[in-house]
Amino acid sequence: MEIERTFVYIKPDGVKRRLIGEVISRFEKKGLNLIGLKMIRMSRKTAEELYKEHIGKDFYEPLVKFITSGPVVLMVLEGPRAVEAVRQIVGDTDAVKAIPGSIRGDFALSVRENVVHASDSLESAEREMRIFFEDDEIIQN
Ligand SMILES: Nc1ncnc2c1ncn2[C@@H]1O[C@H](COP(=O)(O)OP(=O)(O)OP(=O)(O)O)[C@@H](O)[C@H]1O
Ligand SMILES: [Mg+2]
Repeated sequence: MEIERTFVYIKPDGVKRRLIGEVISRFEKKGLNLIGLKMIRMSRKTAEELYKEHIGKDFYEPLVKFITSGPVVLMVLEGPRAVEAVRQIVGDTDAVKAIPGSIRGDFALSVRENVVHASDSLESAEREMRIFFEDDEIIQN
């Protein structure tokens, strides 16, 4: 199977609710390797870069405000079909529709405050991890 890398971060609600360990644990138990990890407070400029595909949508401003409201935990995960595997573990954007057993299904009720972000394709994973990680901050196993 194709080994992929994907980008995930724990949003301010997840950090505030002390779900960092729980979230990382789910990815690890699934068998994905954590190859990059850091905690930051995202600037408005960086949030705008990350979410540029959503500029102009009605949820864009509140989203940027939310994402910059507190610290976030950034990570790069590696494994077979990691992009799809991680999206499955994370669950539907709308946390009410996200199936129980997924992170959003178990820990959220909101469309905006949904605990985690996960890249939706290999292309966005590559683009998004480059915003936050230098080459030497990603650890080769
Ligand atoms: N209708 C909406 N109302 C409020 N917030 C929204 C809405 N749609 C999306 N968002 C917020 O914007 C984020 C990005 O939306 P996107 O469509 O990329 O969903 P996603 O790919 O499931 O989530 P993410 O990119 O965070 O992994 C969502 O995770 C959520 O926080
Ligand atoms: Mg998305």
